[in-house]
Amino acid sequence: MKAVRIHEYGDATVLRFEEAPRPVCTAEDVLIRVVGSSVNPVDWKIRRGYLKEMIPYAMPIIPGWDVSGVVEEIGAKVSRFQVGDAVYSRPDITRDGTYAEWIAVRESEVAFKPRTVSHISAAVLPLAGITAWEGLVNVGKAASGQRVLIHAAAGGVGSLAVQIAKAHGAHVIGTGSGANRALIESLGADEFVDYRTTALRDAVRNVDLVLDTMGGETQEASWAVMAPGGLLVSMVSDPAEAVTRWPQLRAASIFIGPDVPALERLAALVDEGKVRPVIGAEFALRDIRKAHALSESGHVRGKIALHVGVP
Ligand SMILES: NC(=O)c1ccc[n+]([C@@H]2O[C@H](COP(=O)([O-])OP(=O)(O)OC[C@H]3O[C@@H](n4cnc5c(N)ncnc54)[C@H](OP(=O)(O)O)[C@@H]3O)[C@@H](O)[C@H]2O)c1
Repeated sequence: MKAVRIHEYGDATVLRFEEAPRPVCTAEDVLIRVVGSSVNPVDWKIRRGYLKEMIPYAMPIIPGWDVSGVVEEIGAKVSRFQVGDAVYSRPDITRDGTYAEWIAVRESEVAFKPRTVSHISAAVLPLAGITAWEGLVNVGKAASGQRVLIHAAAGGVGSLAVQIAKAHGAHVIGTGSGANRALIESLGADEFVDYRTTALRDAVRNVDLVLDTMGGETQEASWAVMAPGGLLVSMVSDPAEAVTRWPQLRAASIFIGPDVPALERLAALVDEGKVRPVIGAEFALRDIRKAHALSESGHVRGKIALHVGVP
């Protein structure tokens, strides 16, 4: 099959569009014919070797951990899916990924895709959507009337997080650059802060929940705008030490894995018209180096979709 593999860690030139063996569907697996995939920052972080202490990959590997596609084969123990089902998944990142024509995914990591959007639109949802769900709903307990601050609200995680927080009744404040103001407001944000021109402390106060997609100075600036008892959830750095300087505040960090209940809830919100995937750029799989370069710029609007197979 055609796939993108890396044989060593490095810059985008290590991404090779080439022939690779078709994956074997074990008893617990569903073999998915990949229609769409997407690029997430973790893809180039893994490509650069940043996660090699945590995950000991045996090269070559196929990166990419978002998929929407069609079930083509089921393992002997699979009971929830049939050949021909339209599914989506954020599969286990320790196995080969989705920059490929086929992927074998454990049944326990697969959900039915939203019915009302294309495979390409569905493919950009799983990883970023599970992350937003984990931070806002599972850990953050977002609830009606809460004031929620979402950093990088125009990004992959942020664009979904704004909509998920609104669907839970929160008052949403989103940060981004001025060029993304209209997008962030169209997703439902009640307030917008241009991080390039406005200090957070001059524009925001009494935040109950912060979704920290940036770390560093952005995380640092967030503590001062939080309400007593507020919670900051970071997906990029552990805030445990920083929060000791703010005894009235709480902090948590997340590192997501496959999460089928979140995918099922997300699919329902998409089909109810409450969440829409935002695709800022689309590439053919063979153009993966350009797609990584865009992600590495740090200024993607919404998500980067990859076209892999025919719908
Ligand atoms: N822990 C986990 O399990 C987990 C899961 C998913 C993602 N992550 C991490 O979370 C981070 C965000 O992921 P993502 O997919 O959302 O990234 P992304 O889509 O690449 O984020 C791009 C967005 O960031 C915005 N941005 C850049 N600098 C900003 C700043 N200083 N303040 C506010 N917005 C800023 C950009 O907006 P402008 O163009 O307007 O500047 C752009 O819209 C990444 O580091 C990723 O690796 C962690």
